[in-house]
Amino acid sequence: MALETNRLLLRPWRVADAAVQHELWTERDPRVPAHRRIDADGHPTVAELADRIRAEPPSPIRLLAIERRSAGDVVGYCGLIDGRRGADGEPELAFELLRRSWGQGYATEASLAVLDQARSSGYHRLWATVRDWNTASRRVLAKLGFVETGHPEADAVHGAMLFVTRQL
Ligand SMILES: CC(C)(COP(=O)(O)OP(=O)(O)OC[C@H]1O[C@@H](n2cnc3c(N)ncnc32)[C@H](O)[C@@H]1OP(=O)(O)O)[C@@H](O)C(=O)NCCC(=O)NCCS
Repeated sequence: MALETNRLLLRPWRVADAAVQHELWTERDPRVPAHRRIDADGHPTVAELADRIRAEPPSPIRLLAIERRSAGDVVGYCGLIDGRRGADGEPELAFELLRRSWGQGYATEASLAVLDQARSSGYHRLWATVRDWNTASRRVLAKLGFVETGHPEADAVHGAMLFVTRQL
């Protein structure tokens, strides 16, 4: 399962990508919940992330590594995860990129390919969740045509969670 855009190849994670995953973990904003950040003992390690990649079963609902076609390097991920908001079976869009690749339209370009794939797989609607302080992600979701729905979920520590959706 791989998707191609003008500049990007979206493909399943390889064990060799564990170091990039680790870099993503280290770069996360301090407001991101602790279970998604490297803990005080240094976990998850690159080796632990490699084990997770090895253990991941193939599935149409998954995150794909984003590889730049010109450079051949992996700069983040984009894909679908199980949704917790919509009707049964309506997945969520998710994306995250290394800071050095921000601001070049990669998240938007990758997401458009994931949206196309989701539509051709028969999904009628996607969801996404985003913290109110996450201006860049909110902008990407707005550019993709996602609209806010319902009430934000208050969270004084990590920031309110907004729920957005898009018909396909
Ligand atoms: C969100 C994220 C994936 C965006 O990746 P990206 O490749 O830089 O996104 P794009 O270049 O496609 O679009 C970013 C848009 O946000 C805008 N933007 C970025 N930072 C901004 C800021 N601080 N204030 C206002 N707009 C901002 C950019 O100008 C651009 O909009 P434009 O095309 O209208 O100019 C990246 O910032 C990231 O990995 N963040 C951390 C992980 C994360 O938040 N994931 C999403 C969780 S819901």
